[in-house]
Amino acid sequence: MFRWDLSKFDYPNPSQTAEIRIRLASESEIGSAAEVWYEGLAEEEGSPWANYLKKWTPATAAKWFLDSKKRLSAKMLVAESSRKIVVINGIISERNSGKGRFFTGIVVSPSYRRQGIGLLILHKTLLDLKREGLASAEVETIQGIPAAKYLYPKYGGMTLQVLA
Ligand SMILES: CC(C)(COP(=O)(O)OP(=O)(O)OC[C@H]1O[C@@H](n2cnc3c(N)ncnc32)[C@H](O)[C@@H]1OP(=O)(O)O)[C@@H](O)C(=O)NCCC(=O)NCCS
Repeated sequence: MFRWDLSKFDYPNPSQTAEIRIRLASESEIGSAAEVWYEGLAEEEGSPWANYLKKWTPATAAKWFLDSKKRLSAKMLVAESSRKIVVINGIISERNSGKGRFFTGIVVSPSYRRQGIGLLILHKTLLDLKREGLASAEVETIQGIPAAKYLYPKYGGMTLQVLA
């Protein structure tokens, strides 16, 4: 689990190589977002998500995302390149606890990785949550994968808890 203290979040926009704009997905785009999520996790090197993905398909993931939107006012941040969604981050703002939770994790389409897009959506997510007045942001991930080694430690991300 990674946590960011949003009171300390004060970082300039990251530079980017691709022309990418982060925005909220419409309801009709949730299916594409679910495909990016499923394929992006499935194609991570070394298949760290293989076991977790056994209980999901892109269609059931889309249902989960839509249900989270209805019940928990979840937001789906996405960015597109050439009219294709290439990165997603699903976010739930928990007003009571003051926490923003990345319930999908940040997932970049395999052929768009290492171009600064993951960092860009992380920055935008943390900025939005801070502007909403939340105190912290959290994500659960797997120890030792690229997200945990290289992306989530950015902007003051701290490992909070390591589960066996
Ligand atoms: C983790 C992930 C989101 C990173 O996205 P990305 O767009 O490739 O990351 P960026 O290009 O923004 O890179 C951010 C930083 O991490 C580094 N980085 C990213 N992937 C790396 C890798 N595989 N090896 C070494 N460094 C890496 C970059 O060099 C950059 O660091 P720098 O700014 O100091 O140079 C992407 O690899 C992914 O989608 N993985 C599969 C899905 C997943 O497991 N998500 C986590 C769910 S909880």
